[in-house]
Amino acid sequence: MEKEQHSHEHGHHHDHNDFTDYTAAVKAYRETFASKAEVMDQAPDPAVREMVKYMDEQGVENCFDRFDKQKPHCTFGLAGVCCRICSLGPCKITERSPRGTCGANADLIVARNLVRAAAGGVAAHGARAREVMLTLKKAAAGEVDLPILGKGTVRNMASAFGLSAKDMSVEELANEIADILLEDMSRIVPGPHKTLEAVATPERRQTWEKLGVLPVGSYHEVFEALHQTTVGTQGDWRKAMDQFMRLGIAFSMNSVVGGSIASDCLYGTPKRTTVKANLGALKTDTVNIAIHGHAPMLATKVIEAARSEKFVKQAEEAGASGIQFYGICCSGLSTLYRLGGVIPLSNANGSELVLATGALDLWLADIQEVFPGIMDVADCYKTVVVTTNESNRLPGAEHIGYRRDLEDLDKLPGLADRIVARAIESFANRRDVQRHIPAHEMEAEVGFSLETLDAHYGCMERVSSAIINGQIKGIINLAGCTNTRVVYEKAIVEIVDILLKNNVLVFTNGCASFPMAKMGYCSKKALSKCGEKLQMFLGGELPPVWHFGECIDNAHAVATFREIAGYAGHQMKDMPFAEVTPEWSNEKGVGAALAFRMLGFDSYHCVHAPVQGSEKVRDFLYGGTRELLGSSMKVDTDPKKVAAMIIADFNEARSNLCWR
Ligand code: SF4
Ligand code: FE2
Repeated sequence: MEKEQHSHEHGHHHDHNDFTDYTAAVKAYRETFASKAEVMDQAPDPAVREMVKYMDEQGVENCFDRFDKQKPHCTFGLAGVCCRICSLGPCKITERSPRGTCGANADLIVARNLVRAAAGGVAAHGARAREVMLTLKKAAAGEVDLPILGKGTVRNMASAFGLSAKDMSVEELANEIADILLEDMSRIVPGPHKTLEAVATPERRQTWEKLGVLPVGSYHEVFEALHQTTVGTQGDWRKAMDQFMRLGIAFSMNSVVGGSIASDCLYGTPKRTTVKANLGALKTDTVNIAIHGHAPMLATKVIEAARSEKFVKQAEEAGASGIQFYGICCSGLSTLYRLGGVIPLSNANGSELVLATGALDLWLADIQEVFPGIMDVADCYKTVVVTTNESNRLPGAEHIGYRRDLEDLDKLPGLADRIVARAIESFANRRDVQRHIPAHEMEAEVGFSLETLDAHYGCMERVSSAIINGQIKGIINLAGCTNTRVVYEKAIVEIVDILLKNNVLVFTNGCASFPMAKMGYCSKKALSKCGEKLQMFLGGELPPVWHFGECIDNAHAVATFREIAGYAGHQMKDMPFAEVTPEWSNEKGVGAALAFRMLGFDSYHCVHAPVQGSEKVRDFLYGGTRELLGSSMKVDTDPKKVAAMIIADFNEARSNLCWR
């Protein structure tokens, strides 16, 4: 290691030998990028292959076309060495210009870019969480007509927060819980982080404290991330990585766990149900409404309204046999397991494929992962797109939403009525639109959580002992989005196929859960894909892939992991557990994998982070955290190699625990 510590030494010392020649690595990486032709040919879901071909014949563009047109992708962007933070630049680090105008080197630029990406992820899930927390508060105060359905969660959280629950009603407790969650998220005066103290294990709290990376709260850490990474501020890449880690904890404790607690208090915990999934389940004689995004508040009301007698009758009068809902992305998943009857169709990257079926009358888009590209496809097939959130507007879409200050949340039922009426009107207007519905559908069981698993097994001891005795080799949490760099959903499916054969149990949530649901992995029929031991454990009762819901439901997955580790008498970091996001693609994906590593899980991916331009940052990110956190990040573009790494690491963890 040459002159590793030079930034801490005396000022006269200059080191210009810190340039990492990234060109070969980036070039090799870029050559692995998938093409539309490969998606058409190799995507594991036959409905996807059919729709990409169909759109191609129809001359309608989608993300796969646009990705191809972006080739060759920017070398500097891929390496992470492009800096646009100030107007002395933009600067890029090359052999000829190893410093930006301000003097920043590649290590600093790569680290700052990562910090900003993580801050984006914390803000994204955080904004969603904030809206649900505020809704919970208004519901508790009776300002909006929403019952508090998660009475059990309210009682549990009240005791976890040490509230004297005795003489307080569920509503009063919910109000206090909402206050705590909001305060933890928005704190600027440093003080105890109550959610973190209630939820994190003592071992993790000590680890984080020792590293000096305990967060004040989401809002402050995002603010501080923007501060530190502005020009001429944090000059030490390693210190910038401390802020990165702080953001990982804020992501986990505020944006995800805080948001999940608020959702569970308001809407109740998931219920297990079985549904049909994939495009073949699209109906042609119903008013078809897709729910796309991440905010459950209005979507929930729209489903309730559509089930009222008034609208059932109106739909019939328009010639429909009913009103059917479909799920795209996360709000489609959360409404699915809470209200039932929502058919999961696709994650964000496939949304254009869904629109091109011509089967959707109304597309309800709330927040996040709503690609602007959907508008052109919607226009082609006369689908009405309705946006609901001021932070997520689309030119050409109709807007039926609540106010930015949420002062009109009591009017949600009226907004929901307008949306359902608009869908029925759209149904009547688009009877002549051509439909193309691939004949592929599968059954999927959804709604797994610690609560539903406890109801099934009595407690997690049964799962814990199956790990110890080797019926289960280990458990992964499969999540993350999908990425056009990889043949759509192929990495996810290939990894899971190998892991199931090797007796690895799979938890899944968010976008990666769609290929699992669509292709039958969440059905008992998938037991034939498993190794003998895992089959024996599952005993024909449960599918081998447990669907936990939307992306913030990884909070439920973590609660389950924690319980299983507890029965085994070990820390999560020492268990054969892993976070696997093969096709992660955005800032939330950076945050989610980071959050799991902060919790002590190794994370595995087929997509590189933009760190190839700095050996130091890359090594720190991929392996350097092992000593600090007991976890690391592992990347290989070959899914088979990723699966092999997971199995090898699980075997090692097992032998360290003296389990066979
Ligand atoms: Fe260039 Fe430094 Fe400005 Fe970045 S902060 S654009 S490296 S001068
Ligand atoms: Fe999501």
